[in-house]
Amino acid sequence: MEKLIVANWKAEKNMSQAVEWVKTIRHVLEESRLKVVVCPDFVSIPVVASLLKDTSVALGAQDVSSWEKGPHTGEVVAESLSGMVDYVILGHSERRLELSETTTMIVKKVAQAQNSGIIPIVCFSSIEEVRDYHRNLGPTTGIYFAYEPLLAIGTDNPQDSGEAKKQLDRFKEILGDVDLLYGGGVEEANVGSYLEVGFSGVLVGSASLDEGQFAKIVRIANT
Ligand code: PGA
Repeated sequence: MEKLIVANWKAEKNMSQAVEWVKTIRHVLEESRLKVVVCPDFVSIPVVASLLKDTSVALGAQDVSSWEKGPHTGEVVAESLSGMVDYVILGHSERRLELSETTTMIVKKVAQAQNSGIIPIVCFSSIEEVRDYHRNLGPTTGIYFAYEPLLAIGTDNPQDSGEAKKQLDRFKEILGDVDLLYGGGVEEANVGSYLEVGFSGVLVGSASLDEGQFAKIVRIANT
């Protein structure tokens, strides 16, 4: 599958900040050979979608319900996102830690996303979670996985790309030849190193918030 550069804004941007960000660097993102996927919060998805319409830049959600549409107060179901986003980040460690998300729930979310034509980006932080996915997910065709070591997320302590490559090989022994992204402390100084060792892209949190910083990451990833 295509290589991805994913901007995960988490709950960090309101709508006007989202609009400003897209307007400022849309031209840079459009020139990228690697697929850029922008993931706003649910509220900003429609406005960002309209700004990115007819461009090569893709949109992603940060979660989706494990249920189908129905009486589930507060949930956002895949059918509602369908046609608006192409990708969805699932099982991020922040959701496991803060909202007690389990592999069982995440596996249901993967199915919901795929049934609505949305490509899942399934996160994990440990080999145990990889084994769990291997036992519980069906075929992994059409799924991206994202390796995000807990100690690297939201810190300036990214995992060294040599070590990340060792982990990449271990995970592929279990999952097969899947597309695996790296996330956790990705920035302009290290983005190239993860792509060089064989990751299929990167998931960028903190360094995606500033448009100038993210534009640099995209430019470097394309060199
Ligand atoms: P970070 O976050 O780039 O701020 O480490 C990555 C993520 O949590 O997806």
